[in-house]
Amino acid sequence: MVESFVALEFRNEKLVLLDQRILPTEVVYVDCSTYEDVEFAIRDMIVRGAPAIGASAAYGVYFAAKQCPEHNDFQKACTFLAHSRPTAVNLSWAIERMKTVHTLNSKQPRDVLLQALLAEAHAIREEDIQTNRTIGRIGSIVVPHKATILTHCNTGALATAGWGTALGVIKQAVEDGKDIFVYADETRPRFQGARLTAWELMDARIPSKLIPDSAAATLIRDGKIDLVILGGDRVAANGDVANKLGTFALSVICKAYGVPFYSVVPVSTIDFSINDGSAIPIEEREAEEVTHVQGVQVAPSGMQVYNPAFDVTPHQNITGIITEKGIMYPPFKENIERIRNGETL
Ligand code: MRU
Repeated sequence: MVESFVALEFRNEKLVLLDQRILPTEVVYVDCSTYEDVEFAIRDMIVRGAPAIGASAAYGVYFAAKQCPEHNDFQKACTFLAHSRPTAVNLSWAIERMKTVHTLNSKQPRDVLLQALLAEAHAIREEDIQTNRTIGRIGSIVVPHKATILTHCNTGALATAGWGTALGVIKQAVEDGKDIFVYADETRPRFQGARLTAWELMDARIPSKLIPDSAAATLIRDGKIDLVILGGDRVAANGDVANKLGTFALSVICKAYGVPFYSVVPVSTIDFSINDGSAIPIEEREAEEVTHVQGVQVAPSGMQVYNPAFDVTPHQNITGIITEKGIMYPPFKENIERIRNGETL
């Protein structure tokens, strides 16, 4: 199974991104050739999804090095990029990895330094695709034949450098010959499920239905869902997972009705430095995302809005966390520590 699109690639000294703000009605590509372009693309969600943000930021650091021969300016550009969105840890993970290469090559001639940085950005992108394929093969094991799966937000090729995390597991299960049916939450307020996951599911010809987010509870209670599989933006050292708003509610319903609930993440989404989910910064986005739908006002002018983009699911509600190093089951703290020490589960 191959996607009919490439959402993120480097061509002719430009990062070329499929504009996720306007899919599925228009397929338009945006060129980024400066670190400011990349920062805007991440902040304005031309590109979104934790691994895709990380891979894009890596190219942003390459542009920063090209634009900023002075070390201080380069550092400032990296900080600027790192502040484009707060929750997905893949952003700072990729930037730190690029900065390490910058430091190691700082005494080299400029063209050697830039070549090394570009090679590292390519490596981050390539590794993400390979990682997702591995995650898919590992994760497919938990998907029974004839499973009906519910997913939330978008975790496919659009959200990553390619293939996808949770959607990658679903696609792999289909490739493995299993009959799969998917319910995709529309994922208010930005409709990543309706606009992006539905588009990817149709592209992959996977039998599926789009549902309003609030229909998920009824489907789960009525025994219509065999398992929930979704992504993650930052996993704390105890296994708490920050993911798209609505994930926590789904986990509570799954726990109440005994439905397996899996988060699918690359190891680059684990933040070993924080003990639990309370330390994860949760992005709050603009009111217009809630008061307007596709530019049409749906709430009275002046209405106050609370619009967190993510929520934190406590590890107690999670059946397993699927990574390229294996599937982590409770006790998550110990298993995350094993992954940190380089073990495969
Ligand atoms: O705000 P977004 O669209 O960047 O949020 C994306 C998600 O929450 C995804 O579920 C997560 O990044 C995992 S993507 C493989």
